[in-house]
Amino acid sequence: LPSILQLRHLEWTANKSASLGICKKHVLMRMISNGLRARRASELLVKDLHFGEVPVRIYLPRSPSASKRRGVILFHGGCGMYGSISKELKEKITWKVLSFISSRYRLSPEHRYPTQSLDCVTATTHFLRTAESYGVDPDRIIVCGDSAGGTFATSTCQELVNRTDIPKIRAQLLIYPFLQSLNFNLPSHQKNASIGLMSLERMVCFILMYLRKDCSLMEAILAGSHIPESMNLKYRKWIHPDLIPEKFKQDYKPPLPASYIPQVHEETKEMFDTRFSPLLAEDAVVGHLPDTCIITCEHDVLRDDGLLYKKRLEDNNVKVTWCHIEEGFHGVLCFLGYGIFSFPSNFCSLL
Ligand SMILES: *[C@@H]1O[C@H](CO)[C@@H](O)[C@H](O)[C@H]1NC(C)=O
Ligand SMILES: *[C@@H]1O[C@H](CO)[C@@H](O)[C@H](O)[C@H]1NC(C)=O
Repeated sequence: LPSILQLRHLEWTANKSASLGICKKHVLMRMISNGLRARRASELLVKDLHFGEVPVRIYLPRSPSASKRRGVILFHGGCGMYGSISKELKEKITWKVLSFISSRYRLSPEHRYPTQSLDCVTATTHFLRTAESYGVDPDRIIVCGDSAGGTFATSTCQELVNRTDIPKIRAQLLIYPFLQSLNFNLPSHQKNASIGLMSLERMVCFILMYLRKDCSLMEAILAGSHIPESMNLKYRKWIHPDLIPEKFKQDYKPPLPASYIPQVHEETKEMFDTRFSPLLAEDAVVGHLPDTCIITCEHDVLRDDGLLYKKRLEDNNVKVTWCHIEEGFHGVLCFLGYGIFSFPSNFCSLL
């Protein structure tokens, strides 16, 4: 199923991108049919291991190194339910950074939320503790993830801020992360640039499936009926269209006021854990986060989650590098390395 979904996603993306004039359909389709190339694979030593209970795949360069290497731990996207990471990303990172762990956290629905977040914390903690045995400098490890993997990367960094028994994470790289489920009426949600599989409805439905809830709750959630007014007031300082820069909300219209439905709130309570909505973390946590690189895409319903988190980090004096890909859409990472979408690789300077 994952590979079918991925192929459909790619094909759909190809059609859509072609119709938007982003790039030529045949070029994209050719890449898809060619599959992902295994360039440089022989230069890597790949090992499947377990960090605690969590399966991980480790990529180590075969060539010897005089000094300890930098390391990356990566959490793939796929709504916590499917997916694995793009081979191109692995190659790119491995090639640049040299040592690399991909955490294959256990998926929902077989493993109930928050197993995925806990697995990511376990894998990261283990890697920070044992880095030297892989030739990695424990003080130069970054945590990285795309989409739902970006959520896991964010919450992992938040959960580890106060830990003094393990080395500090050097930086976090968040690629179009999902970061909050309070407000689905932000400008980028309204824009609903549903390139790929990621329309607003589909996203909310995925969230509900991930939590093993019924998709019929979607309408109420989209309307905002899952949030009591007191909660909206409490968090408007962090999640509100007023916090989005003008240039990103040209066609934005404030939504109709929602009528609160307590049963829906009760059903969706997990959505307000900071693990699930890391934008709700207190300043005491956010202010201690490592250097951050956030990547947002213009054609992405999650664009504003990234913009809001960027603002929160900056307001808390965390060093943030921000890359906004004007022609990018959700899932654009799949095309990394094909030369059409070249990726701003300056995040590597964070290391
Ligand atoms: C870390 O410590 C601060 C107080 O210094 C506290 O407010 C915060 O909740 C703690 N965070 C976590 C994730 O334990
Ligand atoms: C979002 O886009 C999808 C696909 O184009 C469409 O079916 C849906 O009605 C749109 N939703 C909103 C709220 O605009």
